[in-house]
Amino acid sequence: MKDHIDTPAIAMETDALRLVWADGAEGVFPYLWLRDNCPSAFHPETQERIADILQVPETPMPVAAVIDGDSLRIDWAGDGHVSRFPLDWLFAYRPGSASHDTAAYNPVVWTGEIGADAIPRYSASDFDDPATFAAWIEDTARYGISIVSDVPGVSGAGADLARRIGFLRETNFGVTFEVMNKPNPNNIAYTAHALPLHTDLPNQELTPGYQFLHCLANEAEGGGSVFADGYALAASLRDTDPEAFDLLARTAIPFRFHDGECDIRSKHPVIVLDHDGNVSSLNWSIHLGAPFDMPAAQMIPYYRAYRAFAKLTQDPAFQVTLRLRGGDMAVFDNRRILHGRAAFDPSTGFRHLQGYYVDRGEFDSMRRVIARG
Ligand code: OGA
Ligand code: ZN
Repeated sequence: MKDHIDTPAIAMETDALRLVWADGAEGVFPYLWLRDNCPSAFHPETQERIADILQVPETPMPVAAVIDGDSLRIDWAGDGHVSRFPLDWLFAYRPGSASHDTAAYNPVVWTGEIGADAIPRYSASDFDDPATFAAWIEDTARYGISIVSDVPGVSGAGADLARRIGFLRETNFGVTFEVMNKPNPNNIAYTAHALPLHTDLPNQELTPGYQFLHCLANEAEGGGSVFADGYALAASLRDTDPEAFDLLARTAIPFRFHDGECDIRSKHPVIVLDHDGNVSSLNWSIHLGAPFDMPAAQMIPYYRAYRAFAKLTQDPAFQVTLRLRGGDMAVFDNRRILHGRAAFDPSTGFRHLQGYYVDRGEFDSMRRVIARG
């Protein structure tokens, strides 16, 4: 964030205070917002708000607003309350600006042109250096993916790294899950079949955030990895077929996983938009897709849109392929990056990945903690 140490000019308007900094940056702070966020409204130790909004006058008016050192002092009419706001806090929290969130980032949206070598790569042996560890997390957020090599080839070694970022998200598959060809599989990931590009577990009410896949062995023929940036797929659809994009963003479709122990279902749109209309998540899993349940009249237009997106997911122009080796760990935003693997032949060698998730909230929390310095 830019350091705003200069003193802003103050204008008291009808229902808001306007601050204008020397470089032209402006903030408009409604009086009610200022009272609601008066530092005295917060517990001094926990920093949680303890004031009751209904105890704040609905139309508070200042009698005076002056700069006092590196603070703004406001004297309020009526109850005589005095508020003091640090100026840099006011700058960071200018209404309408997200600059106070150190976890905000501009994604690097990529297609297959980037090539596997441009996917950020780190060595786990460098993570004792806090700056390298921080750079890894930032790159993983921006590109949505990174590959970490030199993760010790023992079960749990990657999970220990993931835990340095945040709590592991437990699912019906466990705190960690073992991706290998298993007898009596309950999931095609646990077979030797190919997995077309997908996001994991859209059948969950909250789709898991960052996924970690630690490769312990990849000795079988086949089993290569493929990734695509869902943000690029969605942007392409938005450009070329806005109707399809809208349908995929507006229609929640059902996903389901069930086995002997569970029956976990949820509905999500394929393309999830945030409140500003930007793509924030993708839900794409052919194998966990339950029968569409929208009214029959909407089915055919929906299928058209769904197939248009399916076609993009199968277009090699968007894909990066690479081969995980024992000791590599792929880390990616499961709600952004689609991932898959080629079929493998288990008679030719052993293949074993260990996986876990750290939700986006935990991941971003660590990024904010690191940004505190
Ligand atoms: C999975 C998965 C990838 C792989 O288990 O969901 O996508 O390479 N595995 O086996
Ligand atoms: Zn998967």
